[in-house]
Amino acid sequence: MGTQTTVVILAAGKGTRMKSTRPKVLSPLCGKSLLGWVLGQADSLDPDRIVLVIGHGGETVEAEARALLPDRDLRFVVQEPQLGTGHAVQMAAGELEGSERVVVLYGDMALLRPESLEGLVAEQTRAGAGSIAMMTACSPDPMGYGRVLRGAEGEFSAIVEERDCTDEQRLVDEVNTGVYCFDGEALRADLPRLSSDNAQSEYYITDLPGMAVEAGRSVVTVDLELEEALGVNTLSQLAEVRWAMQMRILEEHMDAGVVIEDPASTYIDAGVSIGAGTHILPCTVIRSGVVIGTDCEVGPFSHLRVGTRLAPGAEVGNFTECKNASLGAGTKAKHLSYLGDAEVGAGTNIGAGTIFANYDGQAKHVTRVGDGAFVGSGTTIVAPNEVPDGATTGAGAVLTRESAMGPGEVWVGVPARKMRPTDGTGAN
Ligand code: UD1
Ligand code: CA
Repeated sequence: MGTQTTVVILAAGKGTRMKSTRPKVLSPLCGKSLLGWVLGQADSLDPDRIVLVIGHGGETVEAEARALLPDRDLRFVVQEPQLGTGHAVQMAAGELEGSERVVVLYGDMALLRPESLEGLVAEQTRAGAGSIAMMTACSPDPMGYGRVLRGAEGEFSAIVEERDCTDEQRLVDEVNTGVYCFDGEALRADLPRLSSDNAQSEYYITDLPGMAVEAGRSVVTVDLELEEALGVNTLSQLAEVRWAMQMRILEEHMDAGVVIEDPASTYIDAGVSIGAGTHILPCTVIRSGVVIGTDCEVGPFSHLRVGTRLAPGAEVGNFTECKNASLGAGTKAKHLSYLGDAEVGAGTNIGAGTIFANYDGQAKHVTRVGDGAFVGSGTTIVAPNEVPDGATTGAGAVLTRESAMGPGEVWVGVPARKMRPTDGTGAN
């Protein structure tokens, strides 16, 4: 049995317009790289093979792809020099042998939805042998995109790159989004016939649909929402795409019963789990992998980093940062704290200005706080350390590594010492 579906991702470009040393497709976007989002699209088709065309920063791009999809048949093809998107697919030809259909994605389109891609593949299948299905969108501001030309009956005739457009063609508002599904055999036959006779002297993938029409083969176009078609060529487009992606993520949480008071100032990465009834207050940043239970309160101005877990009813308030920290049910850390590498039990109060000093300049260490403990305002806990169940620290206490608190004990001062039980006269 031959290969049915191969996805080719074009990711060799330098991204000159980004003015960055990092390969464009590794630009961060809501907790993933651009490439991470595109690999997700490819993966959703459950293809037999994914071929990545790499070039600039190829080694890091390859490492990222392998880490993200360790179980997929991934092939890497180096395109050097980069002579255009058609040239990039030519370089991948060796990996397309026997493929019935080839889906080509650009590495800079994060917002394309898997459902849209499925629709494209279905259209190509329906159009039959030799066909191409491609996605187009209507844009009030088509600058930078290839334009879609149509004949008198509205039938597709060709794509013209902006730099090759006549003044009249430049007015066309239907643009090529850069997502294609090709009949594999026809694609392999057409690839060697591409020419670089154009304004950029590049081999364009965008010439392939026009060539198919000339050969009497069918080219079908599928409408795509403009938002899904946004490519990232500049940092300002990256910001625009990030915003759209952020709104998608926040809407999913709101649909699941999470109250987000001000979406405009809330930053939640992909891959965050939040229970229903939780309130996220303004100016809060929550990174990938964080798990928040039901009925919690986070913010305003909180920063929850990787490895943070909040049990139901926990509250993290303003200017509190958590990293690799789990807080038990109903535990509160409401003001001005750093909780790094911590395991905190249930029903505990972390007072304002508490710092878990987790780093000794060489290694990170864990702080454990039990259930029902009371950490007084301004406490510094030098890790590794433990505040056991029911224990209390006084305001401004500094627990050094030499501290050895027992359950229910009260420790005060700098360095903190155990308070002797009072003798009933008030002196101790
Ligand atoms: C491309 C399309 C244009 C379309 C637009 C949609 C061509 C010729 N033009 O233009 O019709 O409207 O996308 O966003 O295809 N790449 C390589 N090797 C190369 C060149 C590019 O791998 O030699 C990769 C890039 O890394 C990128 C993708 O192909 O991921 C698209 O390249 P880009 O330069 O962004 O194309 P556009 O100018 O945006
Ligand atoms: Ca682009």
